[in-house]
Amino acid sequence: MNFMEKEKPIGVFDSGIGGLTVVKEIMAKLPNERIIYFGDTARVPYGSKSNETVIEYSLQDAAFLVQKNVKIIVVACNTASSVAIPALRERFNVPVVGMIEAGSAYAAKETIDKKIGVIGTRSTITNRSYSKELRRINPGFDVFEKACPLFVPLAEEGWIDHNATLEIAEEYLRELKELSVDTLLLGCTHYPILKPVIQKVMGEKVKLIDSGVAAAQRVSSELDRIGLRSNSNGLGVVSYYVSDIPSTFEKVASLFLGKPVSHVTKVDTETIIKSNAQ
Ligand code: DGL
Repeated sequence: MNFMEKEKPIGVFDSGIGGLTVVKEIMAKLPNERIIYFGDTARVPYGSKSNETVIEYSLQDAAFLVQKNVKIIVVACNTASSVAIPALRERFNVPVVGMIEAGSAYAAKETIDKKIGVIGTRSTITNRSYSKELRRINPGFDVFEKACPLFVPLAEEGWIDHNATLEIAEEYLRELKELSVDTLLLGCTHYPILKPVIQKVMGEKVKLIDSGVAAAQRVSSELDRIGLRSNSNGLGVVSYYVSDIPSTFEKVASLFLGKPVSHVTKVDTETIIKSNAQ
């Protein structure tokens, strides 16, 4: 494989800021890879939009990354992963890694009682993407799903130790707890931020699956499979692009990434839309 191909960046897109929890895991797993991140902050949230709109936006977001010459696309947004993967794979020649396949495979390995809970945005849960994938892996799995839309703004507010978050988590998770799931899939980019409160409510014995960790592992094995792992010894750099003003993104980013971000570039939505027309 040509040296230049290996040194191309990994492309990651999300509806906004949440995908940084996935970038964090990719950086930890593959520290010398370059990453190009696109957060569609002008059109967030995706989790309450129709499948058609999310597919359309996802094709545009991915096309923008392809124009940046990425070697692989990571769909960090669970909502986009749950509806747009077939369209993305049909449209682009680069491999596409989605959260649903990666997270489900990981959860399938972890569950002992075959009782898995899944939480996500309204769209992800209504589409039943995780339960379909989990049952494809093992038809014997019992899967229970619950939309937890308020977790997204709570995570962005950084309300991790807040009583309101605990109360909301208790309300959302009550049924899953009563059903005694032994594994809970965090099927939304934002939920890893709220891991401590979710663990507290579910109890220490329940295994929480971070689909970002699962996706980072999937990216690593996919790069090995196609022979495109970077040979570089240096630390990879992340270039950030967003479709709305970078200041809000920069403010909240460190919570999601674990460190501050710099060099955030704004791209007009027009440019993103045009990317897919070329
Ligand atoms: N990134 C989305 C997800 O993982 C959450 C935010 C949104 O609704 O756009 O599903």
